[in-house]
Amino acid sequence: MNFGKNILCIGAGYVGGPTMAVIAMKCPEYKITVVDTNEDRIKAWNSNHLPIFEPRLEEIVGQTRGVNLFFSTDIKNSIKEAEIIFVSVNTPTKTFGYGAGMASDLQYWEKTAYQIIENSEDPKIIVEKSTLPVKKAQAMERILKESKNHLHFEVISNPEFLAEGSAIRDLIEPDRVLIGSHQTESGLKAAIEIVDIYAHWVPREKIITTNLWSSELSKLVANAFLAQRISSINSVSALCEKTEADVSEIAYAVGTDSRIGSKFLNASLGFGGSCFKKDILNLVYIARNYGLTEVADYWEMVIKINEYQQERFVRNIIKAMFNTVVDKKIAIFGFAFKANTGDTRESPGKYVAKKLLEERAILSITDSQALDNARLDLAGMDGNVIYETDPFKAAIDASAIVVVTEWEIFKYLDYERIFEKMKKPAFIFDGRNILNHQQLFKIGFNVYPIGKPSLTHF
Ligand code: NAD
Ligand code: UGA
Repeated sequence: MNFGKNILCIGAGYVGGPTMAVIAMKCPEYKITVVDTNEDRIKAWNSNHLPIFEPRLEEIVGQTRGVNLFFSTDIKNSIKEAEIIFVSVNTPTKTFGYGAGMASDLQYWEKTAYQIIENSEDPKIIVEKSTLPVKKAQAMERILKESKNHLHFEVISNPEFLAEGSAIRDLIEPDRVLIGSHQTESGLKAAIEIVDIYAHWVPREKIITTNLWSSELSKLVANAFLAQRISSINSVSALCEKTEADVSEIAYAVGTDSRIGSKFLNASLGFGGSCFKKDILNLVYIARNYGLTEVADYWEMVIKINEYQQERFVRNIIKAMFNTVVDKKIAIFGFAFKANTGDTRESPGKYVAKKLLEERAILSITDSQALDNARLDLAGMDGNVIYETDPFKAAIDASAIVVVTEWEIFKYLDYERIFEKMKKPAFIFDGRNILNHQQLFKIGFNVYPIGKPSLTHF
């Protein structure tokens, strides 16, 4: 088949895989190839057991794979053939050297620039899909300028705003698509090419075009604003627990102000995920580098409140259980950093599990998608951990249930039956405020929500 455009994505992860699957579905005339250095990941993308779980992902990959969507480890040839290359590699927080613990580790991203110049025979458009510090396209351009054939590579920024668990919906119906380019003739021309891809299914008014640096920085700022809302409501939850105010009532009352809005005001045991923390740390690092101490301190507090919230949650568990959890079985409901994903990166569940294991509790962890990752995360310290797919079984003989992920299924369990099988007094710590607390209290549980008065029988 003759394809209209040859698009490559370097990086077959949580962003690269779903994004390219949706582009393939919406643009059947384009050939889309996704490459990765990780052979196992590519094998999984080519199998019936995809490497990541996202609602509807299997169905879309099933329709497009082998038709106009291809997963491959042949990076060299794929680069050679591509006209447009999306770079969607990981950009984690640096763990070594200057900027360790704050700055982005750009080694994977930079390697792709060298792969591109070594294997290109024609000019290409390079699209930054990874989240990067502002002004990073400049570094990419400087490396690409060293191409042996003096090829021109136009660098475009097209950050991704999808959230895990709703990736496909977010890609099909995005609030906006952001495309940043140099405001030069070739920059604007390249931007139009990328606009054309999305315009297959995204209304034009939702496709925002800006200069390169605004686009790069908008991505970090969007994540910082989202995380800031969670830290704001979580800080209020601590105050609620001291004053008998109810954080859900406050979130509703405050969120109905249309200037504030109701989303992202669910108090929790803290936010997780691979990006909020790393992107805010990156923003803080950049601000410090420019000598903007107050700006850096301001955003750093978002992270500090998140750490405080997680720690506070664990401390509350231990305090409520008479200051010791030694040899007590505790059922951990969920492990993923949010519902509808198997991803456990920076999951508050991981933090809670590690802290309770340090306190010598016995854990039974139940999660419908994240048990494989949980095993990896707790490797070497899971002598006292049982991994259990059935929440009911996980709770047998447990003294407490700790809800760390807001999976729908946890709302509809038969808690009377569960209560009967648990050790008494039985506790529930609802780190997501998803359960019916009054009903649980009536059953006999001692109930500890976030940011609401606890309901106890003592
Ligand atoms: P990921 O770790 O799941 O995937 C990245 C992939 O890139 C890995 O499979 C890795 O093997 C591959 N890779 C690294 N270097 C390579 C190279 N030189 N050649 C070929 N493959 C290479 O990461 P992710 O979650 O998909 O995130 C990717 C980027 O998107 C990050 O910058 C992240 O901040 C951003 N982002 C992530 C999300 C999300 O929900 N996960 C959402 C928006 C933006
Ligand atoms: C987030 C952003 O929402 C995406 O727009 C962005 O593209 C992505 O980061 C990224 O750059 O990686 P994601 O981390 O997948 O997406 O998931 P979110 O829905 O934002 O949730 C993040 C964390 O905040 C989760 O642990 C979630 O449980 C928690 N959360 C969310 C709350 O505690 N309260 C809320 O009200 C909302």
